[in-house]
Amino acid sequence: MHTVEPIRWTDAGVVLLDQRRLPLEVVYHTYSDYRELAQAIKDMVIRGAPAIGVAAAMGIALGVQHSQAKTLDELRAEFKTICETFAQTRPTAVDLFWAIERFERRFAELAVAAQGSAATGLQQIRDALVEEALKVHQERREADERIGRFGAALLPMHGRVMTQCNAGALATGGIGTALGVIRMAVESGHRLDVLVPETRPYLQGARLTAWELHQDGIPLTLITDNMVGHFLKTGGVRAVIVGADRIARNGDTANKIGTYGIAVLAREHDIPFYVAAPVSTFDLTIPSGDRIPIEERSEEEVTHLAGARIAPQVRAAHPAFDVTPARLITAIITERGVARPPFEPALAAWGAHKA
Ligand code: MRU
Repeated sequence: MHTVEPIRWTDAGVVLLDQRRLPLEVVYHTYSDYRELAQAIKDMVIRGAPAIGVAAAMGIALGVQHSQAKTLDELRAEFKTICETFAQTRPTAVDLFWAIERFERRFAELAVAAQGSAATGLQQIRDALVEEALKVHQERREADERIGRFGAALLPMHGRVMTQCNAGALATGGIGTALGVIRMAVESGHRLDVLVPETRPYLQGARLTAWELHQDGIPLTLITDNMVGHFLKTGGVRAVIVGADRIARNGDTANKIGTYGIAVLAREHDIPFYVAAPVSTFDLTIPSGDRIPIEERSEEEVTHLAGARIAPQVRAAHPAFDVTPARLITAIITERGVARPPFEPALAAWGAHKA
C-alpha cells in the first residue's frame, strides 16, 4: 500500500514534509542540525505520536552523527544534551520518550563495546545509531500493517465510520493507525464513508485526514467539530476509530482534544469506540489517565485562524489533548492483538515486551 512519506533519512539529513502547509502546498525541508529538527517537532512540521517517535529517533542519530566529540566521554555528554533537547519538544506523546529511552539503552550497550577504541569506536556508535533510527521507522511501518489487519476485521462491511484528528500516514510514517485500519478495511472490500471532524484549532482533520483519504479515493465527509453530536445521533455512524498519544495501564487514553466528547457521545448512541495504537504508545508507569501530562499550546492557535485574528484580545485556552476513560473504549487495537476490557492484563503483557 503506497502512502505519503512524512519523514525520511537521507545522507543530507532528515527530510520532513511540512504538515503545517498541507493541503495547499507540499513542501519538504531537510534538517542537518538536530536542534532545528527538535524545533520542527515543537512547531508541528511533523506531528502524531508515532511519527514524533521516529523523528526523535532520527534526530538523536543526526545529532550524534554530526558531533565533533573526540572521546567517548565527550560523546556521552553530547548524547545526553541531544536527548534532553528532544525530551523538551512535546510532553504528551509518549512515543517520544519511548524512542529516547530506547536510544539511551542502545547508546549504553554501544559505549561498553567502544570503550578504549577511540576514533573507530565512536564511528561505530554513530553508524549503529543511524541503523537504530531506521529500524524504529521500519518497525512503525510493520506495526501499522498489523494494526490495520487486526482492526479491519472489527469495522462494518459497509457504512459510516468516524475518526478524529489525523492518525494516518502523516502521523506515523507507515500507513497510519486509525486510518491504517480504515485503509486496510477498504482494501479488503469494506465500503466505508468516513466522517472527519475538522479538529480545531489545528485542523488536522480538515487539512490532513481529509487530504490523505481524498488522495486514496476513500469517500469522506468533512464536518465541523460542533456537528459531532448531531451525526452520532442521526448520521448512521457504525463505529468510531481514533489514534492515541498515551495509554495508561488501565486503558485510559490521551488523544487529540475533542476525543473524549466523541467517546461520551458514541456510548450514548451505542456506537463502538475503538482506539488503534502501537504498544510504544503504552505508558505502563502510570496506573490511570489522571497522570498523563496534557500539553498546553499557545493561545494564538485558538484566537487566530490561518494567521488571521478571529477573536478579540481575550484569554484563550488550548489543551492539545484530553483523556478518554477506559470504560468508554470498546477495544484497543495494537500490533500484538486486540485488547478488550478490562484492558490491564493485555496491556501489561504486551507492553512489558516493547522494544
Ligand atoms: O497534536 P498532534 O497533531 O500531534 O496530535 C495527534 C493526535 O492526537 C493523534 O491522534 C495521535 O498522535 C495518534 S497518531 C497515529
